[in-house]
Amino acid sequence: MERAAVAAGAIEARPLVDYTEHKTDRAGTGEPEFDRVLGGGLVPGALVLLGGEPGIGKSTLSLQTAMKASGKVLYVSGEESPEQVRLRADRLGILGPELLILPETSTEGIVRAVKEHKPDLLFVDSIQTLHTPRVESAPGSVAQVRESTAELILAAKPLQLPVVLIGHITKEGAIAGPKVLEHMVDVVLTFEGDRHHAYRILRAVKNRFGSTQEIGIFEMRGDGLHPVTDPSGALVGNSDSRLSGTALAVAIEGARPLMVEIQALVSSAVYGTPQRSATGYELRRLNMLLAVLEKRCGFKLGASDVFLNLAGGIRLGDPGIDLAVVAAILSSTLDLTLDPKTALCGEVGLTGEVRPVARVEQRMMEASKLGMKRIVLSGLVSKGPKPPKGLELVRVNRVGELQKVLF
Ligand code: TYD
Ligand code: MG
Repeated sequence: MERAAVAAGAIEARPLVDYTEHKTDRAGTGEPEFDRVLGGGLVPGALVLLGGEPGIGKSTLSLQTAMKASGKVLYVSGEESPEQVRLRADRLGILGPELLILPETSTEGIVRAVKEHKPDLLFVDSIQTLHTPRVESAPGSVAQVRESTAELILAAKPLQLPVVLIGHITKEGAIAGPKVLEHMVDVVLTFEGDRHHAYRILRAVKNRFGSTQEIGIFEMRGDGLHPVTDPSGALVGNSDSRLSGTALAVAIEGARPLMVEIQALVSSAVYGTPQRSATGYELRRLNMLLAVLEKRCGFKLGASDVFLNLAGGIRLGDPGIDLAVVAAILSSTLDLTLDPKTALCGEVGLTGEVRPVARVEQRMMEASKLGMKRIVLSGLVSKGPKPPKGLELVRVNRVGELQKVLF
């Protein structure tokens, strides 16, 4: 769009080596976990989309970041009245005079306010509430969301104004609005977790100015979101005994190792069709593991209800937690407890083989840090990094060997 203003032929091709990297000066937002996920802060003129389910804490995160950020911040609230936002702000901390609130849903109105106040940072809560007369459809429709975003980009880029757009994502993952925006914005962050639990994970799904490896972990409390500095400790606790049906996994999320407790409940189905349910873990993957256990290990789980849960309400996509899922299911089925100082990591394949996982060294360090004495992992690689002192390595090649190793 900006390029259209340059006359055709005015831009010349030049050797790429002539272009040196110029350091982008990022502005820290004052919210360290937010900065970490952004890759070290906000780049001038960056357009950031913050997506997540309703009620997950997007407005809370945005407002507390807006309150901590230095310089003039304009917070557009299309969903809540200034009084409501003020009420929330009072719970979150100290409110400075430089935070401006604008209860506006007209995109043109926002652009006008940006030109008038020249803020250093703009939040728009949410993109689904905006409307522009340029398109006829209703607010929240794809056309409105796209056009409003385009207008905001046109206004913000020349001013080098970083913008955080909040977008709701529905449970089914149909990101009606935000999905169409992903290619228009520079950074896509998602905020996820279970509304009934305290933990929230902020991830970068796309980042033109940094890696998508970092995650931020927060705990929702009465006075806002607090960074969790020791997520593993928070998620597994420091228990000397375990209940049957639980196992500890060492996962990698983003670039961080993370220990989680996996909980399984296996019981004979009372009403005909057995129930299968998984929270924080993919149901299809659970079904696959159950089929593997049935076929390769002779466990008859076909007539059992199986419930699986990741403690703390977090959701993990790392296949490296498969082995711990299997261990938790075995533990519940046999009603035997696992040693509380044993952790597992490994991906389970269709033939029941335990596959090696990425970044074993980091996982071992994390397990050791949390006081683990033993870690069970794939035997399919004969040589790997050495475990830290005090951590015993136990290698298994197939899930069938797990029972003998664990109980
Ligand atoms: P909110 O930021 O409104 O979610 P979103 O903008 O993603 O829809 O936060 C929703 C929940 O967070 C709400 O149910 C109340 C809770 N909450 C706290 O527990 N502590 C707090 O300090 C705040 C502000 C909210
Ligand atoms: Mg909100």
